[in-house]
Amino acid sequence: MTVSSAPGKVYLFGEHAVVYGEPAIPCAIQRRATVRVDPRSDGVTRVEAGDLTLDGFTVEYTQSVEDHPEIDVPEHLLSAATGYIDVALEQACNAVADPATGFDVAIESEIPLGAGLGSSAAVAVATIDAATRAMGTELPPERIAELAYRTEREVQDGQASRADTFCSTMGGAVRVEGDECRNIEAPELPFVIGFDGGAGETGELVAGVRKLRERFDFAAETIRAIGNLVRAGERAVERGDRRELGRLMNFNHGLLEALGVSSYTLDEMVWAARRAGADGAKLTGAGGGGCIVALGDGEQLLTALDATAVCVDAFQAELDRNGVRAEGA
Ligand code: MEV
Repeated sequence: MTVSSAPGKVYLFGEHAVVYGEPAIPCAIQRRATVRVDPRSDGVTRVEAGDLTLDGFTVEYTQSVEDHPEIDVPEHLLSAATGYIDVALEQACNAVADPATGFDVAIESEIPLGAGLGSSAAVAVATIDAATRAMGTELPPERIAELAYRTEREVQDGQASRADTFCSTMGGAVRVEGDECRNIEAPELPFVIGFDGGAGETGELVAGVRKLRERFDFAAETIRAIGNLVRAGERAVERGDRRELGRLMNFNHGLLEALGVSSYTLDEMVWAARRAGADGAKLTGAGGGGCIVALGDGEQLLTALDATAVCVDAFQAELDRNGVRAEGA
């Protein structure tokens, strides 16, 4: 049994604008997906995904997810649980000299699915690391990030940025601009995350922003404004200026709201965190529902988020400086 884990992430700044070549700063958080892999020689792949907030189920399939539709969970949840793993295993097999024909895979994740915290990237990264190591090959992190990016791109029909997979592989704070990704120095960043129990549809939200940008100059200008804000944010990260970071997070949320990707529940949680003394708060990820990230020290923010009618889970998660890593079996 070979075990790897990889962290989820929040966007400190720059989601959506990153799709148009503006920079973004995702940060890894101390919430992980853990994947256990055992190679098999009988051509069967068996995936156990009990903790993917899918009410616990086991999927057994050969070669691809399509071969096994006979399971009593909605198709999109089945694809969510197995699609990334399927392609990640394929990428892992292509990267080693002597690939296995099947695998036993077990996944445990502390990262809610589809909620803007990079759960699919973390699962893809940890799967590739565990599977390649299980087949006797240790890949450098840059290669794992590349294979995980290809996995997301394939599963998401060509719609993926490198942000999530690079951040999950490397850990820490990351600056992404187009295909250029690098770690940046960052201070301690105590995050509090509020989750409304929902999940925005990333493809639809990205398409909505694209239409808005084509139709209205203000939307194109808003995207450029987010890019400028990210550049200011990068300097604030390097200076370790938490107050300024919080201020810029608030501006970033306002600009995302102008692009139509916030929601009542996200706004409510953002304001609850700000009223409770957060340095700043914003939605994270594609929006439409899912998570907000607040910068600030703990208990008061947690209490304030829990007290809202819309928050189903609130938790603290520091910046995680570790990316993908081997775990004891
Ligand atoms: C989604 O987590 C982030 C977006 O910027 C889309 C992307 O970068 O692929 C909305």
